[in-house]
This record gives sequence, C-alpha cells and structure tokens, in this order.
Amino acid sequence: MLKARVSTIKGRIIAIFILCLGFTGALTAIYSWQVLDLKKKLLLMEEFHGLFEDILEVRRYEKNFMYFREASSLQEISVYLERAREKANRLAPDIIRIVGENAFKPFQASLLRYKTAIEGCFKGCGEPDIVELRAIGTSMVDFTQKLLQEKRKRINRVLKQILILPIAYMGGFVLLIILLFQSLARSILSRISFVQQATEEVAKGNFTPIENPGKTRDEVTELIEAFNRMAAELESRWEQLVESRKLASIGTFTSGIAHELNNPLNNISLTAETLLEECDKLDKGESKEMILDIINQATRASEVVRNLLDFSRTETPSLTRLQVKEVLQKTINLIRNQIMIVGVKLNVNVPEDIPPICGNLHSLEQVFLNLLLNAVQAMPDGGRITIDVKETDDGYVAIDVSDTGVGIKPEALEKIFDPFYTTKPAGRGTGLGLSIVYGIIKKHGGYVEVKSEVGVGTTFTVYIPICKTDEEKKEATQ
Ligand SMILES: Nc1ncnc2c1ncn2[C@@H]1O[C@H](COP(=O)(O)OP(=O)(O)OP(=O)(O)O)[C@@H](O)[C@H]1O
Ligand SMILES: [Mg+2]
Repeated sequence: MLKARVSTIKGRIIAIFILCLGFTGALTAIYSWQVLDLKKKLLLMEEFHGLFEDILEVRRYEKNFMYFREASSLQEISVYLERAREKANRLAPDIIRIVGENAFKPFQASLLRYKTAIEGCFKGCGEPDIVELRAIGTSMVDFTQKLLQEKRKRINRVLKQILILPIAYMGGFVLLIILLFQSLARSILSRISFVQQATEEVAKGNFTPIENPGKTRDEVTELIEAFNRMAAELESRWEQLVESRKLASIGTFTSGIAHELNNPLNNISLTAETLLEECDKLDKGESKEMILDIINQATRASEVVRNLLDFSRTETPSLTRLQVKEVLQKTINLIRNQIMIVGVKLNVNVPEDIPPICGNLHSLEQVFLNLLLNAVQAMPDGGRITIDVKETDDGYVAIDVSDTGVGIKPEALEKIFDPFYTTKPAGRGTGLGLSIVYGIIKKHGGYVEVKSEVGVGTTFTVYIPICKTDEEKKEATQ
C-alpha cells in the first residue's frame, strides 16, 4: 500500500516533503542539544573560575602572612583552602575528563600538603616552610590556570561547531533535495516526452499503442493508458473514414472498372468474331497476329484485375529487415528498359550508413514501381528521376522520388491518393497506383508526403520505420 502510494508522483512529492520535515526536525534537535551543551560548559567554566579565585585568595593571604605574620591571615588561608578543596572534590570527574587523572592527583596532593602545613602553624609547631608553601601555591595556581585554558579551548570548539554544523547540514540537505527533484523530474519528463513523440506519430497517422517506458505505475502511466485509448478510438474512426471514402468512390469504381474491363473484353470479342468469320480467308501470319492481339487484351484485363486485388487486400504483409538500397535496386531492374526507352535519366543516392527498414519486399517493390512509373509517365519528353535516401531524427528512413515532370495542380493534390482518381487517358491508368502505395506504406507503420509544382516537377517522400533489434528497442525505452 505504502509502496503504491510512494510510486505515484503525488506520493513521491509527499515523501520528499516528509523527508524535508525530518531533516529540519533533526537539525533543530542537534542545534538545541549543542546550545544546551554549551550552556553546561559555561556553567562548569564558572565553577573552575571560582576554584581559580579561591586559590588566588589563598595566595593573597599567604603573602599577607609573610609580611605581617597575622594569625587572621592564616585563618583566611584555611577558609579559602577548604573551599578550594571542597570544589576540587565536587568537580573531580569533570576535571579528570579535561586534564586527566595524572594531572589532577598531584593538585589534590598539593592542596593537602598546603593544608597540613597551615594546620601545623595553628598547632604552634613554629614557622611554616615559606619556600615550600610558595612552591605548592605556585603549582596550584598553574594547575587551575591550565584547567581554565583547556576549558576555554573546548568551549571555543563547541562554538565553532555551532556555527559550522548547521551550514554544512543545510548545504547537504539542499543538495539532497536538488538531486531528489532532479531524478523525479527526469523520470517524469522523459516519459512525457515519449508521449509527446507518440502524439506526433498519431498526427502522421500512426496509431500504434505505446508502452509505459518506466517500471513504476503512476499518473504518467494513467496518461499513457488514456493516450492509448484515444489512439485506438482515433484509429477506428480513421478506418471508418477510409471505408466511407472507399464507399464514396464506388461510383467512380463502377464506371472505372466497367470501362477498364470493357475495353479489352470488347477488343477480344471483336477480334475473336473477326477471326471466326474470316478464318478461311486469312493467312497464317494474319491469324497469328489476331491471336496475339487477343492475348494482349486478356493480359491487360488480368492486369486490371490484379491491381484491384492489390487495392482490396487487407491483410498485413509479413515484415522482415530490408536494406533500402536492395529494394530500390530490385525495383529499378524491373523497369530499367522502360526508363531508358523514354529517355529519362535516373540518379540514385543511398548513403552507406542507412539503417535497415522493416518491410515486405514484394509490397515495397510495388510501392516504388508505382512511384517510378508515375514519374516516367509525367515526363513524356524525357527528364530526370532522382532518388535520395536519408535517415530522419524520429526513427524513419525517408526515400524521396523526384521527377522533373509536368507536376500536379494544387486542387488535384488532395485527390491523387483516392482510388480510381486518374488524369490519364482511358486505358492508360486505373487510378489505383497511389492508393495502393498509400495502403502499403500505412501497413508498414509509415506515411507518404508529396510536394509538387506545376511545370517544375514532383517529389514523393516515403517514410518507413527503421528496423530496430530487440536490444536497440530496450535501449530506446531506458
Ligand atoms: N509524378 C507525378 N507527376 C505528376 N502527376 C502525378 C505523378 N504521380 C501521380 N500523378 C497524378 O496522380 C494521379 C493518380 O496516380 P495513380 O498512380 O494513383 O494512378 P494512375 O497513374 O493515373 O493510374 P495507374 O497507376 O493505376 O496506372 C495520376 O493520374 C496523375 O495525375
Ligand atoms: Mg500510377
């Protein structure tokens, strides 16, 4: 449940927010702890200072006693000494922590020796040994001074930490947040740009559903699913539209097909009747010519029927990896003679590094055959056909078939892909060529574009998807 929640974009933003909260809470806790620690250290420092003051008082009265030999000075010494001893005992664990036991023990011994010497004076054991007393006093002052110095150093260290730690902590925190947001943005943006590319494909008429490139299921996954539903809906509408356009062209179809088949059938029947009536009078050569005529007309009729079959074929051709250069070469071989006879020049430019395409050889031969025949027929007085191949940035191989022919009028441009639309004289064209081209390329997941200028020439550009290996596909989705 938690996993599912965190994997959504909303969940991830909430997780980052909770992390921020945790980080800020931890920072506040550490900071407060450090301030409390500093306060404790300052209080201890005050206590150490008190100890130092007591020792100084002892030494002050020691001096007085040396000059004036008053019993009251001895009294003061013993009061301050007692206070110092009591403080030293109470603060013993803290002092040991700072200067170590080895330094503290001699200090305690000095206090005791000083006390014993002073008590000796009270009991009337004569003059204390002033030299020894001064030596012990000096060592006690040195010790407490050293203690204060050490404590000061430690307080300075904590102060530095209080200043630096929050800055370092905040720096690390800001970096972490930037990294988290960057990774979040990257994972979302890369998939959104994937959907954007797919939208462009839809605009070109490719309704292939897309797969979620990420492993997680989140709002972008829902967007992709909605996109796929939209693409499927658009595809079915598109097919309905094409169907209705096909139906609309059925009128043209009936007259077109009647005309296309009637001509050769009439010719066959006329020639056959003549042959029947005149067979006795005709010599062998004439009879043979008439029979050849019948065969030619029958071939013409079967060609019309074959074109019709190609047009009405609905199954998707089986696709294999093909090199564009080979497909073009094979197609050109089929009509090389026809091109030469009409005096048309042909230039083919296929760069070596063009990736293979996914296609059906027979279907693609049909595509380029139709385009080349149209180009030849558009240049009755000769001209030049140029074929240029290049790879596009969005995963297609683009094949330009350009001619220097008569061109297509703007108002005719939108009709040329319609079945049975032709400007050729009766018997010369069925008007099925470009609609077959369109259907085949669509089944290949590609599309066709045309640019034309009357009197200058025409360029048909066929886009066919690059054939990616399974590894390349995997890389592309990562
Ligand atoms: N390269 C071109 N230059 C000028 N016009 C063209 C060209 N290609 C096609 N057309 C125009 O588009 C029309 C339709 O072409 P399409 O190939 O579908 O049929 P067709 O060539 O007339 O007949 P078919 O191909 O069945 O023999 C043509 O009649 C012609 O007017
Ligand atoms: Mg044609």
